[in-house]
Amino acid sequence: MSRIALPQYLANADVAPELQSIILGLADVSINISKSLAKGALAGILGAAGAENVQGEDQKKLDVIANDMIKDALAAIPAVRGLASEEETDVVPCHTNGSFLVTFDPLDGSSNIDINSMVGTIFSVLPHSGTEVVTEQDFLQPGRHQSAAGYVLYGPSVMLVLSIGKGVVMFTLDQDVNNYLMTDAEVAIPADAKEFSINMSNQRHWVAPMQDYIADLMAGKDGPRGKDFNMRWVAAMVADVHRILCRGGLFTYPWDSRKPDQAGKLRLMYEANPMGYLVEQAGGEVWTPDGKILDIQPEHIHQRVPVILGAANEVALCVDYHQR
Ligand code: AHG
Ligand code: MN
Ligand code: MN
Repeated sequence: MSRIALPQYLANADVAPELQSIILGLADVSINISKSLAKGALAGILGAAGAENVQGEDQKKLDVIANDMIKDALAAIPAVRGLASEEETDVVPCHTNGSFLVTFDPLDGSSNIDINSMVGTIFSVLPHSGTEVVTEQDFLQPGRHQSAAGYVLYGPSVMLVLSIGKGVVMFTLDQDVNNYLMTDAEVAIPADAKEFSINMSNQRHWVAPMQDYIADLMAGKDGPRGKDFNMRWVAAMVADVHRILCRGGLFTYPWDSRKPDQAGKLRLMYEANPMGYLVEQAGGEVWTPDGKILDIQPEHIHQRVPVILGAANEVALCVDYHQR
């Protein structure tokens, strides 16, 4: 069976050549990142980098390596007006004629690096319509404005999952020829869920409605939901959302009373918005307790947000517990 390669998909879908160049550039650099990850300890790239990022988190060597690789790749693409990364304090201006801005999480799930577990790269492409030399202000667009979004999952196989606003497609890396080939043309999340995903160890720090909602899931057949739920937590948003795109379910990372001034753990512009765009494009829902995430007007490139996403009916119910 002959499969459609990523460049062919983009051409068939009439994606603007500038946008194609960005998606293909990200795909190429992700292949190089996957090779570094595969070498692991042999390449001496595991462990801490010995520095902190702007969010006060300890950087792993691979956070820095992946960030530098993606930054260099994007800076070489004329269509990129500017970029913003989890691992960069400020936005980085690129080409003054570029039409697009790119935000990215170079390595998502960093705590999995040293245990040879799944990690990913998340990216979001926004149109540029602001100043000649980009400023942070130019990036502060609602997720609804994204021109494309996606992620690469570095798992047993390397997969690139993409939306250009025409549904969600999945590609798998053919490692022999370094080509991403389409392996799922129409990703859809069922409206009802059988599985949920949350870091249960934080339970006592959530708001009461979230505690009540999860308690009712945990009560299974004997509780108000009248059915049993399964639970999974990979500790890499990419991998948890990938599972939801493959077989459904609900994912949430709620607000936590230990950091009352922090809206949540996940970052709006390079985690929640791109993953949210994919989930909505696959028929799912993406909310905070107060409203749809893709409608949020960002105030800062590194701002955080509580996230409830996945199966439409389950997300609606979880939000309803908060709004009752
Ligand atoms: P990152 O490695 O880019 O900082 O993101 C990690 C995030 C997200 O991917 C994941 O869902 C969550 O942190 C895991 O958090 P816990 O450590 O609470 O499990
Ligand atoms: Mn992340
Ligand atoms: Mn990261």
